[in-house]
Order: sequence, then C-alpha cells, then structure tokens
Amino acid sequence: MKEKYAPLFKNFTFKSGVELHNRIVMAPMTNCSANGDGTVSDAELAYYARRSSGVGMVITACTYVTPNGKGFPGEFGGDRDEMIPSLSRLAKAIKGEGAKAILQIFHGGRMVPASLVDGDVVSASTVPAAGNPIPRELSAAEVDAIVKAFGETTRRAVESGFDGVEIHGANGYLIQQFFSPQTNRRTDKWGERLAFPLAVVDEVKKVVSEHAKASFAVGYRFSPEEPETPGITMADTLELIDALKEKNLDYLHVSLGEFWSVPRRGVDDSRTRLEIIRERADDSVPVIGVGSIYTADDALQALSTGVPLIAIGRGLIIEPDWLQKIENGQEDQIVTKIDKNNQDQLVIPNPLWNMIVNTPGWFPGV
Ligand SMILES: Cc1cc2nc3c(=O)[nH]c(=O)nc-3n(C[C@H](O)[C@H](O)[C@H](O)COP(=O)(O)O)c2cc1C
Repeated sequence: MKEKYAPLFKNFTFKSGVELHNRIVMAPMTNCSANGDGTVSDAELAYYARRSSGVGMVITACTYVTPNGKGFPGEFGGDRDEMIPSLSRLAKAIKGEGAKAILQIFHGGRMVPASLVDGDVVSASTVPAAGNPIPRELSAAEVDAIVKAFGETTRRAVESGFDGVEIHGANGYLIQQFFSPQTNRRTDKWGERLAFPLAVVDEVKKVVSEHAKASFAVGYRFSPEEPETPGITMADTLELIDALKEKNLDYLHVSLGEFWSVPRRGVDDSRTRLEIIRERADDSVPVIGVGSIYTADDALQALSTGVPLIAIGRGLIIEPDWLQKIENGQEDQIVTKIDKNNQDQLVIPNPLWNMIVNTPGWFPGV
C-alpha cells in the first residue's frame, strides 16, 4: 500500500464499542432481490459476501418494520419474528467476511407503491408523493405502533447477530415525511416535526439497552435538504442535528449523491453541506460522508475534510475489490465504470442488475 493511503486503513471505534478495521463503509443500497416471502435470497447473500471482505462496515439495504412500510418489490422483511433466520443469514454472510453488519430499518410512508400494500398508502398527512395516490393520515395510535415496530425490528437485528441498526430518516421516506413541513401538516403532538424522529430514536435505544448483550451501534441517516418550499432547509437540519446530539448515537449518516455539494438555502455559508454538518455535530457524534466517491484519491480527499468515515455505494457495486486494490498498491486498477459484460463476476443479483443497466445516467458506464 502507498503510505499516503494509510489514513483509509486506520481503526475506528464507535461509542458503543463497535470497532471497524478501516474507514470505508458500504452505503445502504436496496437491491430488490429478496424471495417472494420476504426472506433474503441466496443471490443477495452472495452479493453481500462478495463486498464484505474489504470494508470496515456494511450497511444493508433498508428493511421494512411494518408490512405497510414496504417500499420496494423484492425488499427483504424485518417486520416479524419469522424473519429472524433470514436476517441471521444476512448478518453471518457479512460478518463472515470480516465487516461489521448494520441493518437499515425503514418505513416508506407515502412513497410505498400502492400495489405492495393493498392500496393503503399512509403518511404523516394527506400530501401525496409524485405519481402516488393521496396517502391516508396515520392515526396517533398507528404512529405509536410504528414507533414500537422500529424497536421490534431492532430487537430482531440484535437477535440475528447484527452489530447495529441504522434508522433510515432520509430520502423522503416516513421519518423524513414527519420532519418535513411539506408533508407533516398535523395539529396533534406528532405535528411537532421532531417528535416522530426522536421517538423512533428513543425506542430503538431503549430496545438496545434492554436486549443487546454485546456492543451494538445505532446510527441515524438524514437528507439535509428538500428542493420544495415548504421543505427541509439546512437550518432545519442543524436543529435536527442538535437534537440528535443529545441521544448518544454512534453516528450520523448524511444522504447525498455528491460529497462536495453545497447548501441550497437556510444558511449563509459557502462551505459544503458536509463541512457544515460535521462542524455542528461537533465531536459529540461522528458523521459518515458519502457521494460519488470512486477512486482512492476521492476518498483520501474526503477524509481530509475531517469527516471520519466515508461510505461508498455505486463504487462498491462496480468494484467489489475497491479496498483490496488500494491495500495491494493497485489503486490505479480500481474500476470506476460498470462493466456491462461482467454481471457474474461482479456477483450482482438479476433485479439489481436490470435496474442498473436500464437506467441511463445512474451508474457511470451506462
Ligand atoms: C442501487 C441503490 C440503492 C439504494 N438504496 C438505498 C437504501 O436502501 N437506503 C439508503 O439510505 N440509501 C440508498 N441509496 C443511496 C446510497 O446509499 C448512497 O447515498 C448514494 O448512492 C450515493 O452514494 P454513491 O455515490 O457512493 O453511490 C441507494 C443507492 C443505490 C445506487
């Protein structure tokens, strides 16, 4: 390995005690390849195992915490105890190759395709997502039940041998729908926009303290801004960070397509969103940065901003040996465009492969 890349290979220990052997994380990526009954398929297990021997930590595709939270066809389930053997196989496939395994827990809210939930699409309020029907407003009792369901899926993650969970508060799904002034128009206590995200965090932390015997990490992912007005601004996000700082979380994970992107509105600051967020998170909670990191130098430059951990998504689908190549001094051989003739060697399940090759502009090389 070239000496300059040594910072990528430094250990990192979360507050909970979960220890990573380097600074690179596989970003959570839905692959739509589960079995029809919601169990993780053999193709998914092979896909994860192929990518778990280099990185320090793998965050899985999101899993739904209740049946009406299922956001994608072929999404694997975390909503009932019968799924524990399936979740255990996933944890083992990742950990068996040396990475820590984090389960991303989720509810799709108004973004759920109506066909997956018998037409009963739900959200904080009756504001529809583009192309989807008007969602039904959840009753206060139903909101309580979904909070509990996030806790129950966390218990299943503990029992399945995962090293942690990531609460998916990003990308416009239910938790973000409660935080956004665009989608939360409620007048009850859940109309306080921080109430639902923080209730989920509290419930997940409570379950971990009751059930986890070994170190178990809890992270939270958010999208820093929404394009619409009204919508989440950087000012809102800084408030969310202040509240999350009080929760003794292991990490915050920013969801961005571009690591170096700058704020749209809400702050008078020309620095990147990630620099502003990392500064606000202070040293009280580490931040994972992400977005279009493909080469060893991209990652090194990102780490030099002071963000301690870097997640890579598309780059690890394209190049499963990303870290090993750097370790072996072959960083110039890292593949940065998808090889459309190489599905088998890349160990990519058919549904994910078909999405990639049929969506021009999403992955480099397509
Ligand atoms: C195929 C695919 C599926 C994704 N699914 C999820 C998901 O389930 N949960 C999530 O938080 N983000 C998801 N994302 C976003 C990624 O985690 C990541 O933020 C984004 O791809 C930018 O990182 P990259 O440039 O390294 O790919 C997905 C991205 C891709 C490419």
